Amino acid sequence: MNPKTFLKSAQSGKYAIGAFNFSTAEVLKAIVAAAKELNSPIIVATSENEGEFFGMPEAAALVGAWRHGTKLPIILNLDHGKSLESIKKAVEAGYNAVHFDGTSLDYEENILQTKAMVDYVRRIEKDYSQEIIIEGELGYLRGSSSVHQEALKIKQEDLTSPGQAKDFVERTGVDSLAIVIGNAHGVFAKGEERLDLGRLAEIKETLGEKVFLVLHGGSGIPEEDIKKAIELGIVKINVNTELRVAYKEGLEEELKEKPQETTPYKILALSFDAVKKVVKEKIKLFGSDNKI
Ligand code: G3H
Ligand code: ZN
Repeated sequence: MNPKTFLKSAQSGKYAIGAFNFSTAEVLKAIVAAAKELNSPIIVATSENEGEFFGMPEAAALVGAWRHGTKLPIILNLDHGKSLESIKKAVEAGYNAVHFDGTSLDYEENILQTKAMVDYVRRIEKDYSQEIIIEGELGYLRGSSSVHQEALKIKQEDLTSPGQAKDFVERTGVDSLAIVIGNAHGVFAKGEERLDLGRLAEIKETLGEKVFLVLHGGSGIPEEDIKKAIELGIVKINVNTELRVAYKEGLEEELKEKPQETTPYKILALSFDAVKKVVKEKIKLFGSDNKI
């Protein structure tokens, strides 16, 4: 499986592929089931902590089994890797894509470290004769994947600058670039997460087709902004919080309705359905249905 071909098809077909986080087997199963029903390519992802909980080799083995069983292109992505050690762990476990998040570093140090990740990935690709997508990130992305009570205050200087984005891509050689254009991790009060589409248009104009543009913080953004962002060139959208909320609410409902239930797969039935429903809605919104 050559993962870049799926993002290239998304770029030319003007749709986006969802990258959905998981940390349990049934959430992964629900994501895959949604993709299978809608005949959609899919990216499944673990953050460093999610991968630690699940086990990276175990995640790769299970995703391999789902790929084999469903014949779907399922890309396994390390989300927000913060060190070479964690990128190496993912690649050695068999992940097809890695995201290096150097946004806590200053600009030059982010470039230096991202370039080191790219060099490592390119070497390994040759040894494994297998493509690996490497994603870098530029800008200050606020929040975390949870439901926030406090107001979202995004500053102009948080946003990705088109000039720096060009310089960053040229000097690091990343395949994909995660940008900040008003997006944030988690869900905030309605109307707070609006995208600066003008900024996105400028970034796209500057970078052209050189790089795959990625939108993190896909939960809580109004549908019309997501649609316009895809028209303007976003090809990968990360979603986590909305799946977490669906899972938790499903679980609470099941436990409330049947407090005596002790069979795990019965306890998890509503969570499974709720996660699958959200993923199906996102796939349709992103336009990746029937793209296989
Ligand atoms: O890296 C993961 C995503 O950016 C998730 O963002 O929790 O707002 O959906 P989200
Ligand atoms: Zn993210």
